[in-house]
Amino acid sequence: MYGNTKMIAEAIAEQIRAEGHEVVVQSAKDGVPDKLDADFAFLGSPTRMAKMTGPAKKFAKRLSKSAWGNRPLFLFDTIMPGVLEEKGRWGGTAAEKLSELAKGLGLNPHSPVLHATVTAMKGPLEKDATIKAKAYVKELLETFHA
Ligand SMILES: Cc1cc2nc3c(=O)[nH]c(=O)nc-3n(C[C@H](O)[C@H](O)[C@H](O)COP(=O)(O)O)c2cc1C
Repeated sequence: MYGNTKMIAEAIAEQIRAEGHEVVVQSAKDGVPDKLDADFAFLGSPTRMAKMTGPAKKFAKRLSKSAWGNRPLFLFDTIMPGVLEEKGRWGGTAAEKLSELAKGLGLNPHSPVLHATVTAMKGPLEKDATIKAKAYVKELLETFHA
C-alpha cells in the first residue's frame, strides 16, 4: 500500500540480476503468470494485523494449483520494529503465515523467511533494510548453486 514491500521486491530483483540471473517483478494482484519457467519465486507481503494481505494469500493458493510444483518459494514481509522479539504481543508476521499456508498447500517454502523492518506504521523502511534483503538473496543463491 505504501511502497515499502515493493522496494524490498525491487532490491531482491536487483541482487538476482547482479548475480547474472533473469528476474520478473510483478504485483501479487496480477495473479500467477501463465508461463512458469522460473527456477524459483519470491512472494512478499506487508504484515497487516499479524497476517499477509488478501492478494498475497490468493497468489499462494493459485500458485499451488498451477504447474509450479515443488520449486523453491522464498517468502518475505515488511514488519514493525520489535515484532520478532515480541511475537506473543504481535501474533506473527506475513511471511511466517504465508510459509505455513504454503506448506499446507503442498508448496515448498524456504526457511528462514526474510523480514524487512519499517520504522513507523506506514514506513519508511529501516536504513539498512534493502542491504539486508540483498545479503539474504546473495546467500540463498550461493546455496542454490552449491
Ligand atoms: C492497518 C495496519 C495494520 C498493521 N498491522 C501490523 C502488524 O500486525 N504487524 C506489523 O509488523 N506491522 C503492521 N503494520 C505495519 C505494516 O507492516 C506496514 O504498514 C507495511 O509493512 C508497509 O508495507 P507497504 O508499504 O508495502 O504497504 C500495519 C499497518 C497498518 C496500516
